Parts: sequence; structure tokens; C-alpha cells
Amino acid sequence: MSKKFSKDPLRGFKDFYPEDLREFNWIVENIKDIAEIYSYEEFKSPQLEPIEIFAAKSSDELVNEQSFIIEKKEGERLILIPELTPSLARMIARRSQELKKPIRWYSNPTCFRYERPQRGRRRMFNQINFDILGENSLYAELEIFNIIVDIFNEMGATGDQFQIFYNSRRFIDEMCKNLLKIPQEKIPMVYKVLDKADKIEEGEFEKFVSDTFEEEFIIKGILKLKDAKSVEETLSFFETVPQEFYNTEGYLELVNFQKLLKESGLSDYCTYSSSVVRGLDYYTGIVFEVFDTGKENIRSIFGGGRYDDLLSLYSDEKISGIGFGLGVLMLTLFLKTYDLIPKEVYKKDYTDTIYIASVNEKGSTYAIELARTIRDEDFPCIIDYKFKNLKSQLKKANELGILIVLIIGPEEIERNKVTIRNMVSEEQKSVNSEDIVEEIYTILDEFEE
Ligand code: HAM
Repeated sequence: MSKKFSKDPLRGFKDFYPEDLREFNWIVENIKDIAEIYSYEEFKSPQLEPIEIFAAKSSDELVNEQSFIIEKKEGERLILIPELTPSLARMIARRSQELKKPIRWYSNPTCFRYERPQRGRRRMFNQINFDILGENSLYAELEIFNIIVDIFNEMGATGDQFQIFYNSRRFIDEMCKNLLKIPQEKIPMVYKVLDKADKIEEGEFEKFVSDTFEEEFIIKGILKLKDAKSVEETLSFFETVPQEFYNTEGYLELVNFQKLLKESGLSDYCTYSSSVVRGLDYYTGIVFEVFDTGKENIRSIFGGGRYDDLLSLYSDEKISGIGFGLGVLMLTLFLKTYDLIPKEVYKKDYTDTIYIASVNEKGSTYAIELARTIRDEDFPCIIDYKFKNLKSQLKKANELGILIVLIIGPEEIERNKVTIRNMVSEEQKSVNSEDIVEEIYTILDEFEE
């Protein structure tokens, strides 16, 4: 016997069977409704990009350890996109003069990361992105947070089931510079260690921090920092905080944003977290991650933040943006945990589908013509190509949940008629073929009553 290939997709990849796709589409449609009411426009970018644009601003880990790379003959290296933001920046830079600011765009790309597959993480995944560019005020952050809350609310989730954890990179920068006296070039290392804080064991984290920094003062500072529950608590770890610190951009950004959240009634959905810094290099201001508050889904559902300099990859123009990527897989797991996906989503609904059963193949042309008339009226229509035993055709229609069957036999063909059967009442009658659409509407009206 010849060798059979594996039926499974590649590790970490997924086949979407129709019921999987129905679930996926239901989630995406709900999110598109939110995009509509905030007036975000959909865009699409290629799945392959030059590797350099990710190497320059995303993260070393993403490019060196987690990428699917394709080498072209001439040695040019391309990457299957691990995220969308550098491509978004490229598209904006390309047309920046003509695009009206602020730009509100969303997209639903398939991304690829060579990660260890685990609950909530695959090597091929869908990530819905919302970004607003060219709006520098904190109202853009507020809008993005409102969108996140609306996405959850649209699907029936409540504020006790999810939280947006936020921080400000500008605030961390100021603390590192002014309070921990960490040299500017080492600040990215602070992001790197803090980003690991919630992802590894306590002991492992402590070792990672002391392996990364030499100075005891810095090590202690970072270890304390990661557990603070409020801005005040974060600052209370330092013996003295000079008065100028309270006038720095980073401190003011964070407290002003907290004020906005409070005034807009979003505080219940949001929590300050000293260890949220984000793993991507391009963030510069407010950063955030969204988590399930329960124990079952431990990885982030959304991640995002403000990036001031991403367009510098492509031009000298400065357009600041803020946005998020939402993992559809993580959101699906979250919604399933709280039983928020309606059962009907998984089953194809055949209730408005018309089933044509012809008792012999001589009726095939007649059946196909009839089907055309019905489809022209926008009713889904199935023809049973077995052309045999009526009983078994009716049984099949019944199993699908079909409500109306049209039966064709030699007599119907000869007299230009159709027998229409109501599958619920089991009543049937012979009607002229030109009246069939009207008869279908009559039966459907009866069902509605
Ligand atoms: P990110 O935090 O790397 O951000 O990804 C955002 C979300 O994508 C995560 O919270 C997670 O739900 C999902 N995700 C990431 N990796 C995987 C994976 N291997 N399998 C399944 N889901 C995954 C970004 O990518 C930023 N570009 C988001 C952004 C947009 N920032 C500003 N605008």
C-alpha cells in the first residue's frame, strides 16, 4: 500500500471546518459592527513583507526566534507577517499627504509566529487590529479603550470578566532616568525584564533581573516596581521623589489619562499595572493588555499602545498612532469560558432553504430550471441529485431541518406543475410552476405566525 500523508495541518496551524468558520465569522461580524459605529475603515496589507521592517522596530525575539522566513533566490529575506503594525505604518507613509487625519482603520490579518503552540497561542492566528493615527491627544487612547469595552459588551461580557491593564512607557522612562538612574541605553532592558514578569515564575524572574543588571539598587527597584498596584504605590518605593518628577511628561500623561478614564466611567474596566510595558520596541506612551479576570485564560486577549515614531521607518514625517491587536483565538476561548457564543452559531440554518426532490432523472432539467427561479428570488435552494426514492429524499431533507420540499414527478413535468410539501404539517399540494414563489411565501408566512 502506498504511504498515506498525515491528515493533520502543520503544528500550530488550523483547519477551519464550516462550524469553526461560523464561530469565527460571528465574532468578526460583531467586531465589524463596532468598527462601523466608531467609523473605522477596513484595510488589507500583504502577508509577506521584507524582514527589515520588523527587525528595525518590532522586537528581536519576534524576528530572530519566532519568524517564518522565506528566502528569495537573490538572498532577499521575506517574513510572513508576525503582526500588522509595521505594514500599517508603511501603507500610511505611502499616502500620508492625501490621507485625512485622524486616520481610523481596522484590519483582520492572518499572522504567523513560530511559538510553542499552547492554549491561546498558535503559529498561525488571526488578529483584528484597530488603530487611530494623527490624533495626539489622550482622547485617542480613550476612544481605543471605549472600543475595547464595547467589543466585550457587544458580545455580552461584563466588567468583572475582563480588565484592561495599562501603564505608560513615558512614565517608566522617567522613573528609570530620574529615580533609578538607569542610563538611557539600558532602558529597553527594563522593558524586556518587566515584560517577562507575568510570564515566568517569581524565582526565575528574580534571576533574570539580577543577570541583566549589575547594580543592587536597580535590581531591587525593578523587583519592587513590578508589584505596585497604583501610581502612588509605585512612587512610594523610592525614598525621595524630586518635585520636578511630578511635572514630567510621563507622570502627567499617566495621571491625566487616569482622570479621563474616571470621568468617562471606564475606571471599572481598567487597572493600572506597573508591570505592563509590552514586548514590542515601537511603543512610546500609554501601553495596555487585556486579560480575563478568571483563571482559565491566562494569556492576553488584546495588546496595544501608542507609537510615536513608527513611520520613521519609511519617511521623515512624524505621525503618532495608537491601537491594538486582538487575538481572535484568545477572544474565542474567553467567550466560550463564559458561555457567550449562542448555540445557533454552530449549526447551518436550513429553515429558508428550498429542497427539490425529483423522482427520476428525466426531471433534472425541470428541477434545475425551477431552482434558478427560486434562487433568483434569493432563496437558497438544493437539488437532490439522487433522483430516486422519494421517501429517502424527504428523510434527508428532514434531517437537515428543511421546511419546504418541492417534488417533481412525470405528472408534474407533463402538466407544468410542482408539488409543494410543508415538512412540518406534512401537507402537500400541486401548484402551477409559475405560482411556486408565491406559494413558498405563503407557507413561510404561516411559519412566522
Ligand atoms: P501583540 O501583543 O503581540 O501586539 O499581539 C496582540 C494579541 O494577538 C495578543 O494579545 C494575542 O491575543 C494575539 N496573539 C499574539 N500572538 C499570538 C499567537 N501566537 N497565537 C494566537 N494569538 C496571538 C501586536 O501584535 C501589536 N502589533 C498590536 C498593536 C496594534 N499595537 C498597536 N496597534
